[in-house]
Amino acid sequence: MKEWLAPGLVTSQLTRSGEDRSYRRMPPWPWKMGQEVFLQNRRAICGTKGGQSSCVCCVRRDEAVVCGIVGYIGYRNACSVLLDGLKRLEYRVYDSVGIAVNNSKKIEIIKEASMVSDLERIVKEIAPSGTQGIGNARWANHGGFSVVKAHSCPSRDKHFILAHNGIIENCSELKETLLAEGFNFTSERDTEVIAQLLMKFYDGDVLKALTSLQGQLKGSYALAIVDEEDMDHIYCMRGGFPMVLGMGEGESLCATDTLAILPYTKNVISMDDGDIAELSSQGIKLYDAKGSPLQKKNFFIDWDLSSAEKRGYPHFMLKEIHEQGGAFRSTLEGRLINGGVDFSGELALNEEVIKRLRAIHLVACGTSYYASLIAERAFERWCDLDIKVDVASEYRYRNIRLSPNTLAVFVSQSGETADTLAAQRRARELGAYSLAVTNAQESTLASCCDDVLLLKAGPEIGVAATKTFTGQIAVLYLLAIYIAKMRGTLTPRMEKELIDELIRLPYKIEATLEREHVVEELASNFSGSQSFLFFGRGISYPVALEGALKLKEVSYIHAEAFAAGEMKHGPIALIDSNVPVLIVAPKDSLHEKTLSSIKEAKARRAPVIAVGFDGDEQLANDASHVLYVPPTREEFSPFVTVVPLQLLAYYMAKKRGCEIDSPRHLTKSVTEE
Ligand code: G6P
Repeated sequence: MKEWLAPGLVTSQLTRSGEDRSYRRMPPWPWKMGQEVFLQNRRAICGTKGGQSSCVCCVRRDEAVVCGIVGYIGYRNACSVLLDGLKRLEYRVYDSVGIAVNNSKKIEIIKEASMVSDLERIVKEIAPSGTQGIGNARWANHGGFSVVKAHSCPSRDKHFILAHNGIIENCSELKETLLAEGFNFTSERDTEVIAQLLMKFYDGDVLKALTSLQGQLKGSYALAIVDEEDMDHIYCMRGGFPMVLGMGEGESLCATDTLAILPYTKNVISMDDGDIAELSSQGIKLYDAKGSPLQKKNFFIDWDLSSAEKRGYPHFMLKEIHEQGGAFRSTLEGRLINGGVDFSGELALNEEVIKRLRAIHLVACGTSYYASLIAERAFERWCDLDIKVDVASEYRYRNIRLSPNTLAVFVSQSGETADTLAAQRRARELGAYSLAVTNAQESTLASCCDDVLLLKAGPEIGVAATKTFTGQIAVLYLLAIYIAKMRGTLTPRMEKELIDELIRLPYKIEATLEREHVVEELASNFSGSQSFLFFGRGISYPVALEGALKLKEVSYIHAEAFAAGEMKHGPIALIDSNVPVLIVAPKDSLHEKTLSSIKEAKARRAPVIAVGFDGDEQLANDASHVLYVPPTREEFSPFVTVVPLQLLAYYMAKKRGCEIDSPRHLTKSVTEE
């Protein structure tokens, strides 16, 4: 889908975006015909339209609608809470933002197709004093890029005001029916279709209208709704898009991301699909899809809010790489009892079920999949079980045999990845015992699985996962040790040895981080490269995969990873003096073989960067550059070898001037298939 912007609007967008990253990436004005520029992080091609020679054609991002909703009702100034919440959601890229707040007995809609800071400026002028309102930042999937489209869509008589995240798939059919029934539309937005439909069903009972509305909508959505005729409530509805509710003293909140409401309450409820919530200053009432009252357990989110701030780091990614030692310690906290792993207080999965297990499946996407591939090696080493690892988008469609004797582990930092959720539903239907490994206690995945293990890594804002990656491996390793112990395949002595090293690992991660400057210098040498090849053997193969993924995600350099033993079966044809080769080469049982891969690459004149253990002098002889890390047990080497790869990706991206925390076309949680 394309949209044309006039030069005036383009220039004002740029001026208003101020320090915005997309502004900084702009080539100098005037732009040439056909030139690619970035406008509010959207790719745009310069062209002509209607005789105007310097129009810009924006090409919409093709991924799902992301961003967020915040709602507040209570005693505070709603505008401040909403703006603060929207700012906390800024890390999820958006193109429009707006709020609707009550102001002297009417609802004021303030919207601006730009940044929260612009909205803040306008809000200051109007200064609404109300204590109830909703806010929305979004990428619109229907309708153009303009102020008109920003934020919530007032319904026909401005009775209901909606903030909507998601995509209504049957939007066209619904609109046709409404048009035939005499409803008029002022925009292309699917949000307006929802609003009109709500009006159609409304006969004085909002709850009834919402249950009817729910039955009509296909697709994914999270909705927050205010009613100008009843300003004592906010209504929320969830259908496939996350929504959490916050309970405070004399105030209630809602948001699509817990981070937005954490300054006000840490007491949250996670809505499930089909749930309807009625928020007031007195509390929250929940209803199921039929409108019957519902009870739900609430969670206490013990995240330190300052961990969602940059604290002097130029980017969240760098800060989160540096937090890995501390995050690792939190992951271990309370789970190592009497020198052994103890999940008995956390898991319903008991000894009886564990002894009956025949197979373990690890299912995930992206970085979480690579963490699962690493953990696979540990499971197969310590447990006597069949282990299968798959990406969720494949697993969900395969003819996989599952039974109550299968433990299906779903690994997802966000707990909201659509494919992972679908794979979990399928595994559960087929009878497997499902376990979520996630960083988000309030997530959909956590609520759908039979059991949950939390990473406890604290909020991760950078789109490219780093500390949650090491957190996932840590939790999966603890699980592998726990299961192996219960099944009698791990001796107490061996368990103690593993635990002793696990406790030392955060220090080794921190020692690796102290060598950051070496990686930074190396990145300067290679930041002009077009392509990178990564290799690793055994447990280092998934580390190489993750290193290549990190590099392409944030620096946009083409990078591919292979098992080192596969070098001769194709990749070697790509190797020459222009293609840097990174080989993950800790001193492990396969080290000799890895060294021969280094020699192969070197013989083809490739600059070879090796990641290896301190004291491995052979590496210094064979490779062009070595990034040394403290030695550890073979099973644990990924915790240290991945760190220089994360730093390399970061510094390469920095040297290339990339948008590190929100790389183009990527989102933190992919809530659409
Ligand atoms: C997206 C993110 C990746 C992440 C993947 C899986 O693609 O950009 O960084 O690894 O989703 O996310 P999850 O939340 O399920 O771990």
